[in-house]
Formats: sequence, structure tokens, C-alpha cells
Amino acid sequence: MAQPVPCIVDEEGLESVAESITITDNRTGETFELPIVNGGVAANEWSKAVPGVWFYDPAFMYTAACESSITYLDGEAGVLRYRGYPIEQLAEKSSYLEVAYLLLNGELPTAEQYDVWRHDVTYHTFIHENVRKRFLEGFHYDAHPMGMLVSAVAALSTFYLDAKDIFDPESRSKQIIRLIAKMPTLAAAAHRFSVGMPFVYPDNTLDFASNFLSMMWKVAEPRFEPDPVLTRALDVLFILHADHEQNCSTTAMRVVGSSHADPYSATAAAAAALYGPRHGGANEAVIKMLTEIGSIDNVPAFVESVKSGGGRLQGFGHRVYKSYDPRATIIKRTADEVFSVTGKNPLLDIALKLEEIALSDDYFISRRLYPNVDFYSGLIYQAMGFPLEMFPVLFAIPRTAGWLTHWQEMLDQDSKIARPRQLYIGDDARDYVPVEARG
Ligand code: CMC
Repeated sequence: MAQPVPCIVDEEGLESVAESITITDNRTGETFELPIVNGGVAANEWSKAVPGVWFYDPAFMYTAACESSITYLDGEAGVLRYRGYPIEQLAEKSSYLEVAYLLLNGELPTAEQYDVWRHDVTYHTFIHENVRKRFLEGFHYDAHPMGMLVSAVAALSTFYLDAKDIFDPESRSKQIIRLIAKMPTLAAAAHRFSVGMPFVYPDNTLDFASNFLSMMWKVAEPRFEPDPVLTRALDVLFILHADHEQNCSTTAMRVVGSSHADPYSATAAAAAALYGPRHGGANEAVIKMLTEIGSIDNVPAFVESVKSGGGRLQGFGHRVYKSYDPRATIIKRTADEVFSVTGKNPLLDIALKLEEIALSDDYFISRRLYPNVDFYSGLIYQAMGFPLEMFPVLFAIPRTAGWLTHWQEMLDQDSKIARPRQLYIGDDARDYVPVEARG
């Protein structure tokens, strides 16, 4: 028997049937009609119809885990928008701090709101001396800066006990500001430690990106003066990396946050997810791949080896984008600006040749593999002097705004603790065998 489908009632009180899908349980012959809302079928409606039959979707490839109004992504058309604003416009006209405000608040700030926001973020850049002296300096001399960052962010939760008050709006907003403001400080501290350079305190007279560059590169000069082209390029890269809807690290943030863990612990979990080479580590892998290829002449043979299963073309392909990643287009342009200051990265020609060959090869065309955000970003970071180990760290700094926005949205939606089901494929019940009796 078909179940009644909910109706849509418009402003004039007229009813119309919502979009729906009909399923038949062939075990019983029963038919169910399930409503389609915002392009999705609610899994709980499905489970009411066929209890005990789970969707099997290990990497959540076909599952929408939440409703969200933060970032819109159309992978077929190569469209990315934050809160409705096209990424191209934000990259051209906005700044990372303004974008962070937009993500978190849903609207662009007025001049007054922006001044307060910028002041707040700028004045929370310092970290407790114990975090640096006792915690960060306790790492082994060759510790990876991303490992240090992940641990240091988690450790911050022990310094801000009020962070546990996640439903107190004042506390929540304070932790959000602290996290966004302190990420560059922790990131630069991790780098300075890994190269044996003394820590540089934040300079709160500098803007967000310049302050980070100062903490990274300042040596003995009284004030670090970054090149404005490089500062702007870094800010654009921060804008492009600020959010990307339900990616692996954001999903980690939402899942850990759903247990009502404090935001530092949840952010550390998200950063840990970003550490992997399939996610935030891909641009490092791109540089290693280009270096290994070594010259333009070797590109065709390398592409052939990828096609015959000898590894992946790093910086190519995306779970959602099945056309050119719009961020890659902007990054390619930004690379030219950066190289006009730093000189061309010698790996650029290999990257361009690789792209040219791959985009005309049926293997990549048929699988809809295009350059993603990581294909060119590593070339920029390398030309700016960042060591490879810092690449995922450079991703984590701006993505913190996105993670926190999703965390906040998830809490405001009063969501349940994330707890998927499984399809058990192990042994049936069996009796314990004492060790002497085991074969
Ligand atoms: N080079 C060669 N073949 C590839 C590549 C690649 N980069 N990516 C996918 N394929 C092939 C893959 O072998 C498979 O072929 P077949 O159907 O013959 O088995 C097909 O394309 C589909 O691949 P998949 O692994 O099922 O696709 P996925 O959606 O699970 O993976 C991905 C997405 C990003 C993990 C993958 O494309 C990849 O490993 N790319 C290289 C790493 C990379 O650039 N990662 C950065 C992603 S963007 C930044 C971010 O989100 O953090």
C-alpha cells in the first residue's frame, strides 16, 4: 500500500504534491512513496518503509549528511560559492578575514562590523608561553610542522576551560576568534622550531597575512615588510581554501563536534584529517611528482606510467568536481603574479606540459580528471619559500574558518551524535577457546 506523500502548501494555502520517489519491497510486494526534499530522500523515511535495510555507502559518496547553507558547489559545472557569493568575485575583491566573517555570519560585514572583527582577530594572535616553551619545544627536532599543529590545537583546549560551554554564545564566539587568530601563530611557531629559528611574536599592527609572513620569515630586522604582491597572493590562497562544504576534514569536524567535544578538540581532529596525502597533503605530493619527472621531455612517459597503473597524477581529479576546479583557474593566474616577484618556479613548465598532455588524453578525459586546487598551489608556496612540510599547514590556517562555521551550523541545527550503522560480515557467535587448546 503506498504511503501518503507530504504536500507543499503555498502562501495562498493551495496544496501540491511534493516530488517523490516510489520503491517496492520485492520481499513483500509493498510499495512506498518517499518525498524528495531539496534533492534528497530522508533516510529515516526509508528506514520507516524498510526497517533494518541500511544504505551501504562506505565513503559517503552518495550520502548527504546534513543540510547546510554555507557553501554551494556544483562539481559538474565547476561552480563554487560561499554564502551565495561566487569564489571568483571573493578572490578578486575580498580579503580572507572578510570571507571568514562572511562564512561565520552569513553576510558580508558592514565597515563597522569589519573593524570590530579585524580588531578581535588581530588581538588574539598571542599564544600562552607554555604552549610554545613547554609544549612545542618538547617535540623532536625534526617533527613535522603539521603534526605539531594538530597537537598544539588540541592542547589549546586545556588552556581555555570555558571552551566546553559550547552552547554559550559568548564563549563560542570567543573560541572561534581565538582559533582563527592563533592558527597562523602556531603554524609559524611549528615552522621556526623545525628549522631551529627563534620564535617571532605576532605583530598586531600587521594585517592577517602579513603578520603570518612576519612570524615565518623575520630574522633581525626591526619590522618585517612583506612584498604586497606576495601578501595578496597568500590572502587569495587563504580565501580559496576557506571552505569546501562536506570534505573529509569538515566531515571530521562535524562528526567529532556532534559528540559535543570542545572546538579545539574538534578542530584538531579536522586538521588531522587534512594531514593525509589524499586531502591537504596533495600539493606536497604534486611538487614531489614534478621534481621526480625532472624535465618536460619525461612528461609523456610519466603520463603513460600513470595510465598503466604506476601511480596517480597528483593534483588531478576530485570526488566532486568533474570539470576544471574553479579554484585552480584562479590559482594559475595568481601563480603568474607571484612568479613576477619571485622568478618562475622551474617546475612550472613541467606542470603546464603535464596539464596539456593530460587534458588531451582519453584516459583523463573519459574519467573526467582535471587539475584541482592542489595542482598549482604548491608551486606558489614553493616559490614563496615555504618548505614542503608547511603545505598542509598553509591549508589548515584558512580552513579553520570553514571548519568552525560548519561546527557552529551543526550545533545550531541541534543535530544528533554522528553514529552510522554497519553491515556486519564477520563470524557468527562462537565459544572462547583457552590458549592451550588453540591450534
Ligand atoms: N590520476 C590518475 N588516475 C586517477 C586519478 C589521478 N589523479 N584520480 C582518479 N583516477 C582514476 C582512478 O584510477 C579511477 O580509475 P578506474 O575507474 O579505471 O579505476 C577513476 O579515476 C576514479 O577514481 P576514484 O579513486 O574512484 O575517485 P575518487 O573520487 O575516489 O578520488 C581523489 C578522488 C581526489 C582522491 C583522486 O582523484 C586522487 O587520488 N587524486 C590525486 C590526489 C589529489 O590531487 N588530491 C587532492 C584532492 S583536491 C583537494 C582536497 O579536497 O583536499
